[in-house]
Amino acid sequence: MSNRKQLKFGALIHGVGGNVTAWRHPEVPVDASVNFAFYKEQALTAEAGKFDLVFIADGLYINEKSIPHFLNRFEPITILSALAAATSHIGLVGTLSSSYSEPFTVARQFGSIDHISGGRSGWNVVTSPLEGSAKNYGKTEHPSHDERYKIAEEHLEVVRGLWDSWEDDAFIRNKETGVFFDPTKLHRLNHKGKYFSVEGPLNLARSKQGHPVIFQAGSSESGRNLAAKSADAVFSGADNIEEAKLFYKDVKDRTAAAGRSRDDIVILPGISPIIGRTQEEADAKYEQLAGLISIDIALQYLGRFFDHHDFSQYPLDEPFPDLGELGSNSFRGNTDKIKKTAKENNLTLRQVALDSAAPRSQFVGNPEKVAGLIQQWHEEGAADGFIIHAPVPSALKDFVELVVPILQERGIYRTDYEAKTLRGNLGLSIPANRYTAVELNS
Ligand SMILES: Cc1cc2nc3c(=O)[nH]c(=O)nc-3n(C[C@H](O)[C@H](O)[C@H](O)COP(=O)(O)O)c2cc1C
Repeated sequence: MSNRKQLKFGALIHGVGGNVTAWRHPEVPVDASVNFAFYKEQALTAEAGKFDLVFIADGLYINEKSIPHFLNRFEPITILSALAAATSHIGLVGTLSSSYSEPFTVARQFGSIDHISGGRSGWNVVTSPLEGSAKNYGKTEHPSHDERYKIAEEHLEVVRGLWDSWEDDAFIRNKETGVFFDPTKLHRLNHKGKYFSVEGPLNLARSKQGHPVIFQAGSSESGRNLAAKSADAVFSGADNIEEAKLFYKDVKDRTAAAGRSRDDIVILPGISPIIGRTQEEADAKYEQLAGLISIDIALQYLGRFFDHHDFSQYPLDEPFPDLGELGSNSFRGNTDKIKKTAKENNLTLRQVALDSAAPRSQFVGNPEKVAGLIQQWHEEGAADGFIIHAPVPSALKDFVELVVPILQERGIYRTDYEAKTLRGNLGLSIPANRYTAVELNS
């Protein structure tokens, strides 16, 4: 059983789509990735479905082989700020790289969105898998996988410290006495670490939810450990319930081992539901999407996970090639899984490529089937909720209009928001200000 009795939902808004050819689907606006009206409409659809959050992914390096959405898209902080003004309850979570940013700037940016939105922001801390990112930031080399996670840990510690710069009652703002703030409630971080040196204080107070919600999306050992130690929520990839249960238990166990409660972390696998009135109608919708993908395109897509490796050099219908360590400094969680699945199931390169570019989710079917699977994953301890990655825009609307009411009727999903903040809706506590907490404890 999941730790949370009520399901949580997020919507990944991904412009022209998460694969190479989704943009060609008749329903997708070709400029969706840079079309504010599209983002606003998707966010409002998710809000009508009482979703906890919208999620904006990001990356820092493109080349001619990148998927169309990555070639021309919004920067997350900017689009989330605009969505903050266009929505009223839904959480606003965006990706920002700890390998290529300064903690002081990150603390200000997410802190500002948190104020603008009344306590609805969240930061997806990623370490940036693509080596080319270094070339866009004047660095001679991309840090190794292990080092990126060490940087992430320190980065996050600094950001959290900066968010506590002001105790909650620090601003007096008394026009009569002329006292604007209480200097005893202002704290300098004075951080001097291996990667960052930051004095503080931050020029921004804490928001209603204390700190923005911290997301983590890495699934390697280091990714899981960072999540267990420091994250409030995990966005995971999961192909089946058994795998998802193992991941769920593992991350909750690690969280408990790190001295936190199992309820302190929310685990949300990403799924791509396709809903039809009947199974046949849903299957036809999937076939229409998969039919847009050719083998050449699928090879290119697969190559991206392996730092844009050229897979066209191998025979298509022979066993998946032995790639040695290739991919382990990039999307390690994904590449290890691809290699393992290919070996265990004796898959050919063609099968691996098509599977990767057009995965056939189990969540394709009529509303009752999809609602049933969601309930099963939740009840059997595979998920606290899900990030819905709609393969085409109408898939989100279908989910909200057809699946959500079934889950509400079954009493496992809210009919209205419980809280005004993202933490409140996710059932997460507000972190005490470290300085106030010290005083209270002393
Ligand atoms: C569901 C999911 C979403 C992710 N979103 C992003 C993203 O928006 N930007 C990014 O750079 N990496 C993203 N990642 C990649 C991870 O943050 C991580 O960098 C990558 O998986 C390599 O780390 P790992 O080896 O710990 O898995 C995502 C991964 C998963 C599984």
